[in-house]
Amino acid sequence: MTYLGIDIGTSGVKALLIDEHGRALGEASAAAVEPVRPHPGWSEQNPADWWKATLAAIDALSKSHPTELASVRGIGLSGHMHGATLLDKNDEVLRPCILWNDGRSAAECREMEAALPSLRDIAGNIAMPGFTAPKIAWVRKHEPEIFARIAKVLLPKAYVRLLLTGEHVEDMSDAAGTLWLDVGKRDWSDELLAVTGLDRSHMPRLVEGSAPSGALKREFAQRWGMDANVVVAGGAGDNAAAACGIGAIRPGEGFVSLGTSGVLFVSNDRFRPNTKGAVHAFCHAVPDTWHQMGVILSATDSLNWLSHITGQKPAALSGAAEAQFTGPGEEIFLPYLSGERTPHNNAGARGSFVGLSHLSDPAKLAQAVMEGVTFAFRDSQRVLKDAGTRIDRLLAVGGGSKSALWLKMIATNLDMEIALPEDGDFGGALGAARLGLCAAEGADPASVMTMPPIAKTIAPDRSLSAAYSDQYARYRALYPAIEEARS
Ligand code: XUL
Repeated sequence: MTYLGIDIGTSGVKALLIDEHGRALGEASAAAVEPVRPHPGWSEQNPADWWKATLAAIDALSKSHPTELASVRGIGLSGHMHGATLLDKNDEVLRPCILWNDGRSAAECREMEAALPSLRDIAGNIAMPGFTAPKIAWVRKHEPEIFARIAKVLLPKAYVRLLLTGEHVEDMSDAAGTLWLDVGKRDWSDELLAVTGLDRSHMPRLVEGSAPSGALKREFAQRWGMDANVVVAGGAGDNAAAACGIGAIRPGEGFVSLGTSGVLFVSNDRFRPNTKGAVHAFCHAVPDTWHQMGVILSATDSLNWLSHITGQKPAALSGAAEAQFTGPGEEIFLPYLSGERTPHNNAGARGSFVGLSHLSDPAKLAQAVMEGVTFAFRDSQRVLKDAGTRIDRLLAVGGGSKSALWLKMIATNLDMEIALPEDGDFGGALGAARLGLCAAEGADPASVMTMPPIAKTIAPDRSLSAAYSDQYARYRALYPAIEEARS
């Protein structure tokens, strides 16, 4: 018996096969078309591209692991969160999906909070442009002819689920990022929906991430040689899915994710909203569990940007930074290329390099980029602490966790040990596969979502702590200055 996890990421789709013990059997990926940025601060992707990449990744597995793929009994989906996929009454996509890192709807956020003063209490979150509802408020105002045709709003992985199963269904962890969910009650909120002129008929059916959401359509079961009754689980937003993959479902267990976005994630045993410092409070992907997180919009995306403008690969840049590293550098980078959520909640913020000299070469700039992202994690840790949240354990996930230097910077700045899983960078795909297993077999999530074997633990380098605290203080002082310069 095997289970398939499909992670729909901003930069590509990963499909991972596991056995009934949760061991990885094989994986395949397909790159996604990069987000299109028609204006500064906008970010859109074509849902058809996710579907193409999903089929390509599973078809590749079907070539490399035909027998294992044919034994799949459960499928789990993980996806980048918040994206607004607008469908008409025939399930046709109405416009490109407005993504999680799109900042166009700041005015609509203010209008929504003014229209419903209890919005933050019900949603447990500030209305931020990254979330789904403000994007719809923007469409309603700027593209009324499209708004009028909306029959359903789906998140990215729910759109892929629709094509795989024919069902409109969403799980609680992803639904929590729409700003239409009463996060404490784990149900759609009529009041929140009404603020954007929608009602429950526009929403998919809700299920827990570890519960069944539908069955794989016969045509796909046949295409991949599977049985007729493959169960598709609710799945999870990519962060809750990553948490399931590293076994972070108990209070205080968390991770630091160095992906396109950066996330400092911690599980909670109850709904613990704290909108100060733009802390996100969402449902987890397993029943009766919630989580908090701080979100950085451009983590490895900052290094990708430096890579585009220097013509050097991200791994070459981080390698060059590591080769010349002796401690905090002269240059400071503010990683706000797409604005920022935690702690500033400012979609209009932009990135900055400060302290450049004739000696600022690509290696030094790469170090500053990695440090800037690290300081943004330190900001998130600070506001989570202010919210009274305890973090007991942190694992590292995401593509950037391949850099030993980056992990050392993070461990030193958070003053916490960071554990690196042995199996490498599964991201949300492992958690999704585990949710697929739970849904297909009715297994208890607590026994499935265990901590993977750890390859190594990165300790803080205390000889750098004082220098980094000074550098962090300089970094923090820069945000008010760039904010002023833009206003
Ligand atoms: C979380 C968020 C990002 C995306 C990236 O709130 O916006 O982490 O889920 O995939």
